[in-house]
Amino acid sequence: MKPEVLVARAVFPSVLVRLREHFEVEANEADIVWDAAELTRRLQGKAGAFTTGSERIDGALLAACPLLRAVCNMAVGYNNIDVGACTERGVLVTNTPDVLTETTADFGFALMMAAARRMAESERFLRSGAWRKWAIDMFTGSDVHGATLAILGMGRIGQAIARRGALGFGMKVIYHNRSRLDAAAEAPLNARYIDREALFREADHLVIVLPYSPASHHAVGAAELALMRPTATLTNIARGGVVDDAALALALRERRIAAAGLDVFEGEPQVHPDLLTLPNVVLTPHIASATVATRLAMADLAADNLIAALGCGPHAGRPPTPVNPAVLAGR
Ligand code: DGY
Repeated sequence: MKPEVLVARAVFPSVLVRLREHFEVEANEADIVWDAAELTRRLQGKAGAFTTGSERIDGALLAACPLLRAVCNMAVGYNNIDVGACTERGVLVTNTPDVLTETTADFGFALMMAAARRMAESERFLRSGAWRKWAIDMFTGSDVHGATLAILGMGRIGQAIARRGALGFGMKVIYHNRSRLDAAAEAPLNARYIDREALFREADHLVIVLPYSPASHHAVGAAELALMRPTATLTNIARGGVVDDAALALALRERRIAAAGLDVFEGEPQVHPDLLTLPNVVLTPHIASATVATRLAMADLAADNLIAALGCGPHAGRPPTPVNPAVLAGR
């Protein structure tokens, strides 16, 4: 008998074909976002779950799904999963790092440029039919090349954004992170480690790439925004909740910072209503990793993890990207 698994959201057909070689698969082809009760019901009897950031896996769900052995998230972030509770119950958690780094960095950089150069605002203006003449100050923004790129969270994606800024646009890179990079990683980017307050003060363009955890909740709020220059931009491609969206909307409205680019939101898919009314913010629906090739690579990696985590395939017992590998050691 094949183990049973749940694929909690729609995925590529080729991924379902691979999973069906090893498992009895219940697939959510209608792509409904199930609430906790429905997810718990669907997970009854399942040994594995293929999840995305929209499924919350917590202690209560785990208690109600005692057969569950692996939760394989198709995302690099896993703040939707209580990893501690999973570890306690011997449930392996996996994520999808690396395969999305460059694509996500491309998007973060594009969003920063769009905010700095007022692309969304000027496009809306043109489409509205309001364009009558060229003007010397029409949609003047701020330069990206040569400016100071400030990165909060210098993991893989932060470093990929720094490379684009330093090597492609001659930007001066400053960063703040839990730990400083080693000299060999800093040198090619000419990246300068700086304390948190100075990062906000010196930023021309601040890009936030911090993972979400209770410790990073509202890491950028009113106090941090007050340190920033009125000409600065802020880009968030990390997670909703890392930035206090209400405080950001107020700073944008009062032009205490110039512009923002946001791909993630507190309580998404809801967006703070004030942000929707502001011209100086570019808003995108959590698509930083959304290229066909990258989403396929993420889904394939999540499938590889699930197959190996449940003891199948060529890497049985050795999933490529475990989040809590201690669980494997205990098996
Ligand atoms: C991730 O991989 O964490 C992205 O935000 C997609 O959910």
